[in-house]
Amino acid sequence: MRTYAKLRLGVNIDHVATIRNVREGDYPDPVRAARMAAAAGADGITAHLREDRRHIRDDDIRRIREEVDAPLNFEMAATEEMVEIALRHLPHAVCIVPEKREERTTEGGLDAIRGHNHLQPIIRRLSDAGIRVSLFVEADPKQLDAAVALGAPVAELHAGAYADLEGKAQEAELARIVAAAAHAEAIGLECHVGHGLTYDNVAPIAAIATVQELNIGHFLIGEAVFSGLDSAVRRMRSLMDRARAGSQGARSA
Ligand code: PXP
Repeated sequence: MRTYAKLRLGVNIDHVATIRNVREGDYPDPVRAARMAAAAGADGITAHLREDRRHIRDDDIRRIREEVDAPLNFEMAATEEMVEIALRHLPHAVCIVPEKREERTTEGGLDAIRGHNHLQPIIRRLSDAGIRVSLFVEADPKQLDAAVALGAPVAELHAGAYADLEGKAQEAELARIVAAAAHAEAIGLECHVGHGLTYDNVAPIAAIATVQELNIGHFLIGEAVFSGLDSAVRRMRSLMDRARAGSQGARSA
């Protein structure tokens, strides 16, 4: 099994836009947050342009591409409108997520098996434009096999259940994520994890040697209220790095 020494952190800035939109003005500016997160050690910026534009808006995507040096991971639903926006702005990566208007946040993974025929041409168009495509799926080997069949180079595992559970149930969910990350490695998929990660629950996920990127948003923006975004990103980065270094030490011992 390969160990990826550097675990990347993608900071999701959606909820800076949520706060801005409450007053319909231009403060606080998610693009300023993106620059600050990158300066504090984020390896990339993640932003989800939802169909209803409840947080990130079209012009935020344009400005992130023009004003922020860090790579953009553009989260989007598999719709023609979003494909056209992605092809216009050419982000470094696209993460395709399922989207329901009535949900509060992305509640489950994409069904890459049933969605094969719909997803295939979309993934092809994005890949042909040089965009690295990731599918946000449950930690289920069948979904990972389906991602490979679709030609997606990356899968992001949904950590929402892990984040919500406690005790033995959380351990079982962690084991499912560990097994899925190993399966991803075996079939040649780059593995990311995201959703619901916090200072308290990030370490066991960061310690999974074959995971290469974590995408974290809501907790970091919430924590920024108390300690500032710079400090929140630095602390998360340091917890991730410590967990990864610890797991490498354990393996070589
Ligand atoms: N990864 C994906 C694919 C997501 O949809 C989200 C939520 O927008 C995140 C990561 C970040 O989740 P959270 O805001 O709970 O950290």
